[in-house]
Amino acid sequence: MTYTLEKLAKNCHDELAKDPVVGRAAMCRHLEEALKDPAFVKANAGPDQTSPRHLLYEDPEFKFCILTHYYPAGKHVGPHDHGPTWAIYGQAEGTTTMTVWRVEEKDEAKNTGKASPVKTYDMTPGVTRFYDVGVVHSPRRDVETRVIRIEGINQDTFTRIDYEPVDNAVA
Ligand SMILES: [Fe+2]
Repeated sequence: MTYTLEKLAKNCHDELAKDPVVGRAAMCRHLEEALKDPAFVKANAGPDQTSPRHLLYEDPEFKFCILTHYYPAGKHVGPHDHGPTWAIYGQAEGTTTMTVWRVEEKDEAKNTGKASPVKTYDMTPGVTRFYDVGVVHSPRRDVETRVIRIEGINQDTFTRIDYEPVDNAVA
């Protein structure tokens, strides 16, 4: 049976209704299941999807958002967090090389900070990862990439912090 966007949205909604914290891990599993379905990937992260950020669904009750992203080869984003919210990254196509960083300094009034790298790993199609509030990460895309992301609240409604790297030695 095809995994649809509507099914993913309903499953995520129901998990958060059951438990707003445990539900986030469960949402990762639902997104993983969706990404295993080629029909879901084609419908929501297919070749016709060429926007760097496109909102697929925003939950009226819990405010989480499901988004699809297209990144051309060479699209790298520096270390950042997602301000007051968490995010789930799900790889639909290509590979994202993700680095997680440790916060060394943070000035929320100025929206600035410094961070050093902790670990780096590759995310391949079907892989999802949860980044809690304040977890700093930087995605690197050396190939054309498509990603489905879930944000706790719509990132367009706040300013995230971009961090200055202070150590280039990735463990
Ligand atoms: Fe991010």
